[in-house]
Amino acid sequence: MVSLKVIKSIKEITNWGFSQPVILVPTMGALHDGHRKLIREGNAIKGNKGTLIVSIYLNPIQFNDPKDLDKYPRTFDTDYKVCEEEGVDLIFAPSDAEMYLNSSSVKVSENKLARELCGSKRPGHFNGVCTVVTKLFNLIKPKIAIFGKKDYQQLILIKDFIKERNLRINILGEDTIRESNGLALSSRNCLLTSEDKP
Ligand code: PAF
Repeated sequence: MVSLKVIKSIKEITNWGFSQPVILVPTMGALHDGHRKLIREGNAIKGNKGTLIVSIYLNPIQFNDPKDLDKYPRTFDTDYKVCEEEGVDLIFAPSDAEMYLNSSSVKVSENKLARELCGSKRPGHFNGVCTVVTKLFNLIKPKIAIFGKKDYQQLILIKDFIKERNLRINILGEDTIRESNGLALSSRNCLLTSEDKP
């Protein structure tokens, strides 16, 4: 069995000769069954010729609260196993130094939807998301990228942004998976106490 490839460097990912179509599932790791659903959809679409890539990158610039970033679960070894089980072809897991130059002052921003709903409580969050997603799309050049409908505002924002920038990437949204008590699966659920849960 060929072992699942992990690429950490920008040089390597940009020089890699992917077989087409390339399908990307962008994540911040701590993969759960909701991610498995996105990955399975990607696998079904790619057929036997394409390349299914999962990016695992905990993007610091989308966290407006440093404590939230500190607490965010980091589970790379388990994530690797999930990707292996689900037949992913490649994991892209860059470091912060690879993704952002020290002097980096350029951000991609959206100034309407990003200020509403969840964005109104998390200043800068969606600009951080748009910036990292732009980078991932530029590096990997996927034909299709798959996101969860759980983060519906994010999904709509990315779809609008693709149209606005004339990028030829098909953005798919997958349904939310829930626990039996109705709670949507999320990487942060492990931080909830039993009182926090429905
Ligand atoms: O939904 C997420 O996990 C993140 O916001 C994303 C899209 C991977 C960007 O960091």
